[in-house]
Amino acid sequence: MTREARLAACAKLNLDLRVLQKRADGFHELRTVFQTISLADRLDIGFTPSRKTKINLESALAIPNNLVVRAAELVMDAAKVKGEVRFRLTKRIPMGAGLGGGSTDAAAVLLALPVLAGKILPLETLHALAAQLGSDVPFFLEGGTALGLGRGEELYPLPASQLGPILLVAPGVHVSTPEAYHALSRELTFKGLSHSINSFRSFVWSLGGGLSSGDQPALGQNDFESAVFGRHPNLRALKKKLLQAGALAALMTGSGSALFGIFGSREERYRAGAQFQNQAVFPVSAVSRVGYRSLWRRQLRAHITGKEWPPRSQYAR
Ligand code: C5P
Repeated sequence: MTREARLAACAKLNLDLRVLQKRADGFHELRTVFQTISLADRLDIGFTPSRKTKINLESALAIPNNLVVRAAELVMDAAKVKGEVRFRLTKRIPMGAGLGGGSTDAAAVLLALPVLAGKILPLETLHALAAQLGSDVPFFLEGGTALGLGRGEELYPLPASQLGPILLVAPGVHVSTPEAYHALSRELTFKGLSHSINSFRSFVWSLGGGLSSGDQPALGQNDFESAVFGRHPNLRALKKKLLQAGALAALMTGSGSALFGIFGSREERYRAGAQFQNQAVFPVSAVSRVGYRSLWRRQLRAHITGKEWPPRSQYAR
């Protein structure tokens, strides 16, 4: 007997991203605001109980070190369950673009596979597995608008951001995340620390500070912009073009290369989109935490019971 589900795994944007000092473990201390958006990969997943574990991933694109399979191995170990797991992955989120595509696919496995396998893994366990897979994976266990500290894995909920229509531009440049961090040349002490934290704090307060309806929050800053724009001047030009096309604010996401602009109306976004004919552009909207959780409940509804988070398997004893 095989249990199946079709999942949409949402991409993310960073509405602000500060890279502070380098840490003793080689990672960098971050301050960021994550936001899930409507652009999503499709992941079909099937689980059949069996005496031996076999994990198979079908995808039109060869993806090195695919996190989907590693996530499935971690779940099967942690849940002490054996079975055949089949995945079919349809990539829609551009890769190497700072949109968290690989991370959201991995988190989708952490949320869905225990449900299909009839096991309950507490949220804390899922967070520990997620952090092993990558710094952005834990965010996708929560979704919505969230504050990320540490490597990005220490998360706190923020009120839903009131972003207007978003236009995402993916210029097809693949930016390596480790190289982008390296280009920032942060040391164990960072001279700009207090300035960076002060301006991040005022951005987060502006998000949480009860904007009257119709007010657009400005976007924050992304510390990777100057380093990545230095190597890819066309990305700086694209940001300028988004602003000239009427975006109220525009920013690069993650370590790039995708950029996004916030527009005052759908019509303005539509007119702007027409100016990016040689680029992959995606009209997207923010997905709130409430929206994210109801999406997950819907896509697993045949297999879950109750309204808890993470979704709880109806097959668990
Ligand atoms: O955690 P993740 O696998 O996404 O990180 C990829 C690379 O990005 C790390 O190996 C590290 O070089 C860099 N990184 C970092 N500081 C972070 C997150 C990532 O230096 N907070």
